[in-house]
Amino acid sequence: MCGIVGYIGYREAYPIVLKGLQRLEYRGYDSAGIALYDDKELKVSKTKGKVVDLKEKLESEISTTGTLGMGHTRWATHGVPNDVNSHPHLSNSGNLVIVHNGIIENYESLKKELTSRGYTFHSDTDTEVLVNLIEDVIKKENVKLGKAVQIALNQTVGAYAIAVFDKTKPNEIVVARLGSPLAIGVGNEEYFIASDASPFIEFTNNAIYLEDGEMAVVRRNKGVKVRKIKDDSLVDPYIQELQLNLEQIEKNGFDHFMLKEIYEQPSAITDTYRGRLLVDDGIIRMAGVDDNLERFLNAKRIVIVACGTSWHAGLVAEYVFEDLARIPVEVEYASEFRYRNPIINSDDVVIAISQSGETADTMAAIKLAKEKGAFVFGVCNVVGSSISRETNAGAYTHAGPEIGVASTKAFTTQITVLTLIALKLAKAKGSISNSDFHMHLRELETIPQKVEESLKSNEHIQKVAFKYKDARNCLYLGRGFNFPVALEGALKLKEISYIHAEGYPAAEMKHGPIALIDEEMPVVVIATRKGHYEKVVSNIQEIKSRQGKIIGIVTEGDTSVRELADYVIEVPDTIEALTPLITTIPLQLLSYHIAVMLGKNVDQPRNLAKSVTVE
Ligand code: G6P
Repeated sequence: MCGIVGYIGYREAYPIVLKGLQRLEYRGYDSAGIALYDDKELKVSKTKGKVVDLKEKLESEISTTGTLGMGHTRWATHGVPNDVNSHPHLSNSGNLVIVHNGIIENYESLKKELTSRGYTFHSDTDTEVLVNLIEDVIKKENVKLGKAVQIALNQTVGAYAIAVFDKTKPNEIVVARLGSPLAIGVGNEEYFIASDASPFIEFTNNAIYLEDGEMAVVRRNKGVKVRKIKDDSLVDPYIQELQLNLEQIEKNGFDHFMLKEIYEQPSAITDTYRGRLLVDDGIIRMAGVDDNLERFLNAKRIVIVACGTSWHAGLVAEYVFEDLARIPVEVEYASEFRYRNPIINSDDVVIAISQSGETADTMAAIKLAKEKGAFVFGVCNVVGSSISRETNAGAYTHAGPEIGVASTKAFTTQITVLTLIALKLAKAKGSISNSDFHMHLRELETIPQKVEESLKSNEHIQKVAFKYKDARNCLYLGRGFNFPVALEGALKLKEISYIHAEGYPAAEMKHGPIALIDEEMPVVVIATRKGHYEKVVSNIQEIKSRQGKIIGIVTEGDTSVRELADYVIEVPDTIEALTPLITTIPLQLLSYHIAVMLGKNVDQPRNLAKSVTVE
């Protein structure tokens, strides 16, 4: 959601800011803009649409010179996506310019007050209110920009990451964060501002990640001063050395990030269990779990909170934890959990799953669970993200940057981490026999190879995609461990092809969705040999008798489903608890190819955002 980029230094800011905005496109947005200052004038250009549209418009409108600049991709909250509501926004004097992620909740009362004192507003945004509030403080209190930002932010309620500069003092950018991420890239006599490190990774590996409630004044040639917004106390900034490299955030010959990320799954899963899964020693080593083993073992239950695809990974984990570790599990949408006065006790373990580590609802759920005394464990992909810092302990998925909005490798690596935890607890509790435990470890180690095998069906899946690309609806069915995979398969199709799709437990079909089945309806059925196979075959018979079109995801060598289905896609055999890691692959490829054939924007589907930092 919304992306911020800024530069202050000795190079031309424009190419850095523009490229940075392109790198942040994956976050999801509907308009974009840039402000540049070139020692004489402040130039602002913005537009509804994509960064390519901005480039075209901007280069015809303004000169692109200047060593101070910032840009923004906007995902509309207040005010429709149009040129005027796009950021950056100027203050009434035209001196201050701001970009903002998040929501200022009390903007209406602030706006009323500023209007009564003669301020005028051109957009419908809360951001324009904030920049004028800062200007008002400068005028009234006769303070510098940094102080004015601080005073103004202390009058606001809401969430934000902001960057603001004053064209009359063009040697500094002031930034602040509360609830939305903000990183400062520290170069040699130059500084970069961004929502994540991807816009500046080719310039510097050193970054300061602001904590919630912190602001910084970033001065050309003079360094960065970080303070607490509330009490003005100085903070010694921690400069982190980034592990990210450019290759990880580029497409590397793939047509889309999503496809690249689907193909990265064998190595991503290996990276997830590297150093943790010690098959020869029969050990699973995970510091976050080892250090808190008693909490896990004494837990009366585990509550999993997450959103979107991460919630589906949580559902898979429910089956895995209960089956292997015999610990009761509840899986909750974070957005529901946070508002329903949940019963949480100090002996509950709450696991929060989040790829980005920034999802606002998941973050709020964590805070609530902590308030109620629970031990909160995070499963995140983005290292150093807000959720990874807010949780009591955690385990990273180590999937590498996921840029495609539709989550793929994050899902399978989340399942991998959660399976490792479940196995570890099962061993510690004695709920799994030694031989079963070792068998699971050995099998888990073969999963990357089996994912690789599944990817070989790509061309065949393309043919299936071509056959069903014009469907208006699609049903996904699975049972047991593969019921959440059916939900995830349906979500993937919806997200990127805009075809309506529903995931259902196969047996539940007869309580509703069966009414939808006719010769127009493709039904994707996960029917691997392990786990209720015969029952699923009966469900397939029921679809067949109603002329539904059947696409079976089957185990290699299957014959029964092949006889009934219109198409089958084979996957390698594995133990039941690990099948989701394999059966997910063809569903990802199927939705990818359908979306490509329909000419959709696969990596940035309409209206969606990669990291949802508003509730
Ligand atoms: C958005 C993304 C999804 C993601 C969900 C949760 O909706 O588009 O792909 O699953 O947020 O995000 P998280 O970063 O918390 O896993």
